[in-house]
Amino acid sequence: MTAPRRSRLLGTGHYLPARVLSNSDLERMVDTSDAWIVERTGIRERRIAAEGECSSDMAAEAARRALESAGLKPADIDLLLVGTISADHPMPSCAALVQKKLGMRNVLCVDLSAACAGWLYGLEIADQYVRTGKARRVLVVGVELLSRVLDWTDRVTCVLFGDGAGAAVLGPQEEGETGALLGTHCFLDGGLAGALCIPAGGSARPASHATVDAREHYVKMQGQEIFKSAVKNLASSCKVALEEAKLTAAEVDWVVPHQANLRILQGVSDRVGVPMARFYINLDRVGNTSSASVPIALDEASRAGLLKPGQVVLCCALGAGIAWGSALFRWG
Ligand code: UT7
Repeated sequence: MTAPRRSRLLGTGHYLPARVLSNSDLERMVDTSDAWIVERTGIRERRIAAEGECSSDMAAEAARRALESAGLKPADIDLLLVGTISADHPMPSCAALVQKKLGMRNVLCVDLSAACAGWLYGLEIADQYVRTGKARRVLVVGVELLSRVLDWTDRVTCVLFGDGAGAAVLGPQEEGETGALLGTHCFLDGGLAGALCIPAGGSARPASHATVDAREHYVKMQGQEIFKSAVKNLASSCKVALEEAKLTAAEVDWVVPHQANLRILQGVSDRVGVPMARFYINLDRVGNTSSASVPIALDEASRAGLLKPGQVVLCCALGAGIAWGSALFRWG
């Protein structure tokens, strides 16, 4: 009997806009302090897209870099998945614009709305396509331009997020190759849907003068609810991934997590039993970039030479929905 076909990462890439917004810049905008933000979140600065720069621009650039690292061309891709909740327009999809900007072939290109878990959701779907042979090369992008949907008068949310894009190409593991996506586990609890949302601008509350006046087109968050859910669910999804792969916490070389809050990651580290020294952290420099967070961190860690062939790399993310999940790689 032949072993089931696995998928593996063929290349990664990311893009961050040039403009840096520091905590001291924010001190001049809202009633906050560098000390509070660093102590409560670990974030020191984040990137903000330039005027006129769109999600599809950032996504296309991250995708070009991932394709380059995989040694592939846009025409080699036969499925494009874009995790985003801040597409250029309500319609068409961000994926449609990325396809056009990359000059890709006429293939299935679609957005996934799973907020901070969007890229992981895309990875799970991509994995199925590759394993069944329905697609050979899948481009999975996470992009977010949240600075345009943040309320810059709300100190609870505006200090947390940043803009950026990350991308990866998934393809089949070939004979003799050891690198593999060992498993993905994605979940969603709609019971907490109201704890992190943009209330207006959809069909439930279409844009009107009243919704604009009430500032309902911006991100609203019940921070503590999300915090508790994140520690619990990120840890459980990491444990499920390890159990299913018959690996222990001691065998994990790197955790490359969603970068929302250092204290959340400390809670996950305690529960899963992987020390913080093995967590790749960039939230101090980029903040929470939502669906772009994991692929940006993965690409940074990979390009820095931290992720070595044969190592076990565990990713996890959680965001609005509440949607969360994990992905486990044998690097290579
Ligand atoms: O990507 C997935 C989605 N997001 C997350 O994972 C975020 C999850 N939540 C969190 O990271 C944390 O809940 C926050 C960082 C958002 C807030 O930290 P916290 O320790 O839970 O603060 P809190 O909401 O309990 O607020 C404590 C105090 C409040 O003041 P009072 O009522 O005690 O006087 C807040 O008004 O801190 C105040 N506060 C701030 N103070 C200065 C809230 N935001 C700020 C701020 N600067 N930016």
